[in-house]
Amino acid sequence: ARKIIIDTDPGQDDAVAILLALASPDEIKVLGITAVAGNVPLELTAKNARIVCELAGHTQTPVYAGCDRPLERPLITAEHVHGKTGLDGPVLPDPQMPLSEGHAVDFIIDTLRAHEPGSVTLCPLGPLTNIATAFRKAPDIVDRVQEIVLMGGAYFEVGNITPTAEFNIYVDPEAADIVFKSGRPIVVMSLDVTHKALVTKTRNDAFRRIGNKAGVAVAEMTDFFERFDKNKYGSEGAPLHDPCVTAYLIKPELFTGRLVNVEVETQSELTLGMTVADWWGVTDRKPNALFIGEIDAGGFFDLLTDRLARL
Ligand code: BDR
Ligand code: CA
Repeated sequence: ARKIIIDTDPGQDDAVAILLALASPDEIKVLGITAVAGNVPLELTAKNARIVCELAGHTQTPVYAGCDRPLERPLITAEHVHGKTGLDGPVLPDPQMPLSEGHAVDFIIDTLRAHEPGSVTLCPLGPLTNIATAFRKAPDIVDRVQEIVLMGGAYFEVGNITPTAEFNIYVDPEAADIVFKSGRPIVVMSLDVTHKALVTKTRNDAFRRIGNKAGVAVAEMTDFFERFDKNKYGSEGAPLHDPCVTAYLIKPELFTGRLVNVEVETQSELTLGMTVADWWGVTDRKPNALFIGEIDAGGFFDLLTDRLARL
């Protein structure tokens, strides 16, 4: 199984991404979960990550709290999408499992140093503050990273928090810039692909019909998520962003993309946080990211439903 660290700001779609990973031990070994401020403040994301572990029955998975604000900017949150708790929808019990001791950034550093170089993959599902802070604090770990598979950015779909920026990148563009310049292989689950991973009524019903705690909770989470996104994009259902990351680790063949150069705008007020992808190769900037734009959505939802049933 592939060893990963999930860096996250749960978030209903983060929760589904984590559940999918924990339900797939043959393909994925979750070394730990690191919480970051994003959709809601750190205190809540660190709590929600543990709620999700308990929902999956994985109370042994360590959960660390990380950075409570972006590198250089005030935190922007997204309660308008995720609700006040970040995990609105289902009613889930407060977590019993404690937070692991120590800072998420140190956990990331120590874990990369403790494992064979090239054997740990980072899976960021929120703003890139924890990852960038770890890279800055311990530059020796960068080359030890196997791959970074992240949710963030957009090219043809441009933006969801501003006209030109996707939320995770926009919240901490300086951190994103550090990650995109790291030189490690990056897979980008952009809005271009996640806006094709739509929870239709039929797919939501399939989650609920699983009948276990996780299935019902996911149906209730996506019900909540739906309220914000559906009419907004005129699509059939709400996009399920973050699970694209963990699904890619299990079944990469569900996705297609293009290896391109991606740079992050950190200066312009108008286009701050834009992921400028050289899609047509009009510069000689070196490709640094596999930018994913297409998904076999049917296969993705079948995988999700099948795995959630195992919890
Ligand atoms: C991303 O922003 C968050 O609101 C979601 O959890 C996802 O990671 C989508 O832009
Ligand atoms: Ca997220």
